[in-house]
Amino acid sequence: MKLSTLFITLLLIGVSYSQPDVSNSYLGVGDTGVSYFPSYLNLQMHIRCYSNVTAANQNGPIALFDSGLPFFSTAWVPIIPSALANMPSWNISKACFMDRYGYGWSNSSSYPITTQEYVVRLRGSLQVAGLTGKYILVGWSWGSIFIQTYSLTYPKEVVGILSIDGTDSKWGLIPSNQQNVITLSDAVKGYINMNNMGTLEPLARSGMVGSYFGWLPDALVSSGYTQCSLTASQSIFLDSTNKFLKTAIQEYNIMVISSAILNFTYTIKSTPTPLKDLPYINIYSSYVEDPEWSNRQTLMTSLSTNSQSFEFTTGHYFPFHNPTAIVSGINALANKIKSNPAQLWGTALF
Ligand SMILES: *[C@@H]1O[C@H](CO)[C@@H](O)[C@H](O)[C@H]1NC(C)=O
Ligand SMILES: *[C@@H]1O[C@H](CO)[C@@H](O)[C@H](O)[C@H]1NC(C)=O
Ligand SMILES: *[C@@H]1O[C@H](CO)[C@@H](O)[C@H](O)[C@H]1NC(C)=O
Ligand SMILES: *[C@@H]1O[C@H](CO)[C@@H](O)[C@H](O)[C@H]1NC(C)=O
Repeated sequence: MKLSTLFITLLLIGVSYSQPDVSNSYLGVGDTGVSYFPSYLNLQMHIRCYSNVTAANQNGPIALFDSGLPFFSTAWVPIIPSALANMPSWNISKACFMDRYGYGWSNSSSYPITTQEYVVRLRGSLQVAGLTGKYILVGWSWGSIFIQTYSLTYPKEVVGILSIDGTDSKWGLIPSNQQNVITLSDAVKGYINMNNMGTLEPLARSGMVGSYFGWLPDALVSSGYTQCSLTASQSIFLDSTNKFLKTAIQEYNIMVISSAILNFTYTIKSTPTPLKDLPYINIYSSYVEDPEWSNRQTLMTSLSTNSQSFEFTTGHYFPFHNPTAIVSGINALANKIKSNPAQLWGTALF
């Protein structure tokens, strides 16, 4: 064998071996998902896609799902079976679940990546992966900053958005939230020390790590999670390099700035409806202890003239406690896109 052939052969083997096997981290036996690992500007992103293509949805948009912080693609497991079953009627050709950098099976970045940079990198990654076309964007919690930022950055590509108890563009300007991210970062720094000493796992397994830190407990098997998806998520949480926990700290660091930039992007448009007539469904929870959250959700919904909101008392963890509401939300969005698609949104050059 010529040296150059050997080199190319090793390179190919190296490439194929370097992609982790995630097939047993979502639905388990019979999982039909396909993982993409596009490399863009030196970082590989993992995107897990499911499709059920018939004549009805072969040209339909791709639905992109972005999780709350610090969760990733596995958080959506309870809705994947319904998404597969309804895809043809929703006119969605694929449902794709992203791992933001540093989570799941995506590469870590050496510096915190703002949502504004993330959308540029995600778009580049989608192009590299060949996942092109129109998109429906679904964001839970922090993922809502993503769907809004992506829509404003690439308006022509987005045909509808669904926000699920989403973070809003005023959030980062509220002093108590600025304090909260510092408190959360400090707590995760403590978890890193514990992980290094081997004491984090027993703490998490005993139920002492709050959901907001991204631990998916075994008890979630009764909420539509497969045991294999929980096991995979837990081992990522406990990764001995602290990849997951370090990423959470990086992300706490960009929350205020990303939300504030989004606020600024809206503000300079000098209109109460900067999302024009973009089809938009907003599902959220009310909180007795924080009535302002509902007020801000109402403000967020009003940013498009073609929006509708649904209030629940689920609490923040819709994927855990109310996946049905998420599925109804996608259904409502699909109907809105069919019956009342955008006429103004995405048409202007700027
Ligand atoms: C980047 O991600 C890919 C896919 O998960 C992985 O195989 C590779 O080892 C990662 N590279 C680094 C430097 O972490
Ligand atoms: C499905 O979506 C595509 C892309 O947005 C659109 O061109 C097509 O008309 C839609 N089909 C139906 C049946 O709504
Ligand atoms: C694919 O969609 C059809 C409806 O058109 C449904 O009957 C079928 O069960 C779906 N497949 C899966 C795997 O959910
Ligand atoms: C932006 O922030 C200002 C100051 O908190 C607030 O009054 C305004 O409603 C926010 N706008 C949006 C769209 O979030």
